[in-house]
Amino acid sequence: MTPGARVAAAIELLDAVEADLTRPVDALVAGWFRKRRYAGGGDRRAIQAILYTVLRRRAQIDWWLEAEGRPVDSRGRALVALTLGEGWGEADLDGAFDGGQYRPAPLDEGECALAASLAGKGFDDPAQPVHVRGNIPAWMEEGFRAALGDTLEPELAALMREAPVDLRINSLKTSREAVAGLLAAQGIESTPTPFSPLGLRLAGRVNLANSPIIRDGLAEPQDDSSQIAALLAGARPGEAIVDFCAGAGGKTLALAAIMENRGHIVACDTSPGRLERARPRLERAGVEIAELQVLEGGNGLWPGAEEGGYDRVLVDAPCSGTGVWRRHPEARWRINSEDLMQYMALQARILTAASRLVAPGGRLVYAVCSLLPEEGEGRVAEFLRMCPDFNAFPVCKAWETRLGSDCPAGDVFLRLRPGRDGTDGFFVAILVRDGGSSSILLA
Ligand SMILES: C[S@@+](CC[C@H](N)C(=O)[O-])C[C@H]1O[C@@H](n2cnc3c(N)ncnc32)[C@H](O)[C@@H]1O
Repeated sequence: MTPGARVAAAIELLDAVEADLTRPVDALVAGWFRKRRYAGGGDRRAIQAILYTVLRRRAQIDWWLEAEGRPVDSRGRALVALTLGEGWGEADLDGAFDGGQYRPAPLDEGECALAASLAGKGFDDPAQPVHVRGNIPAWMEEGFRAALGDTLEPELAALMREAPVDLRINSLKTSREAVAGLLAAQGIESTPTPFSPLGLRLAGRVNLANSPIIRDGLAEPQDDSSQIAALLAGARPGEAIVDFCAGAGGKTLALAAIMENRGHIVACDTSPGRLERARPRLERAGVEIAELQVLEGGNGLWPGAEEGGYDRVLVDAPCSGTGVWRRHPEARWRINSEDLMQYMALQARILTAASRLVAPGGRLVYAVCSLLPEEGEGRVAEFLRMCPDFNAFPVCKAWETRLGSDCPAGDVFLRLRPGRDGTDGFFVAILVRDGGSSSILLA
């Protein structure tokens, strides 16, 4: 594809993303390229660079367009991304925007003036408000400030960067060293993840979907923070565990490996489609202790669920996803304050339903990939008020037991952050139910 055709493709994709922000962009992009087999790897990289720059920096790009009195549309956004992000000058722009077949129309006078005015500049400008510089919706600035305090700006900057690819090594089948060796043989560099003893972080963007490492169940893509959440649940071989909100089974896989394939895990979710996607993953990982259950009872549980029958219940609740905006930059522009309220209400309902499964003395572990306190500390405080037979168990103690080091990210609750910790944003609380034997309390 010519540079112009790549720009036209990026504009087309930007229009498609804007038309339906609820559709995950990676799926949309994959579908677009499936239908255009002529596009090669270089085309894909160039098109995605424009697309993702706009999605990550949309507030700043729109600020520049408005400052220059230009209409805010996909073509204008692509033009700003090319000039500020890729450093394109007049010659590059004229070469691409030439009106040829499959290429965008030539720049008009206003667009030429915009490009000239932006030449040599960066995305940042001191006149931009914090929410513009940090590329978050204006209504969220207060919540983020409450959560991040003095670290607000560096954390928002970190949240704009591309996330690394982390793998969780399947200890049922192999070791971290062995997988690092297999990757190296394929020319892929990796280093241990900052925290998880089973994690490898890949250098650069690598698509391992068709690699034998994934196909044979030796490893699964999973951010370091998610690996840590599963580890802090404290599951032990032989226990009865529920992975509530199991989705496609990411945490179930991690729990089964921690439990050395001994005991029992009920992986449940309201979405049968997501649970079905867990099935092949569990099979290739060699997990034999997981049972899949669709949550379809009016009480929020699966039919026949045994209340008070489980040692640990992990709730990886649906949330704003603010902690994973590095991976899904489009999600920033999708969420509104009503959505957040709905997530909070759903989290409360799910916590109440899941808590009924916890045995006396057992644990309810609540996790969200959110940076917002109202979805983390706030939800837990409300739950503890409503259910006084549960008490918070300090995450730092669980961290010490499981990871053998001091917890770098909180005492009572875990708060991982992209800027400080190099992981997705993640919140974890461990809540212990009164009664029963105290053996679980020690783990
Ligand atoms: C954050 S995702 C879970 C990701 C998964 N645990 C993993 O590690 O891959 C949240 C999940 O909650 C599920 N969910 C939504 N409403 C629910 C409800 N009322 N009860 C249980 N799960 C629900 C969604 O279908 C989604 O799969």
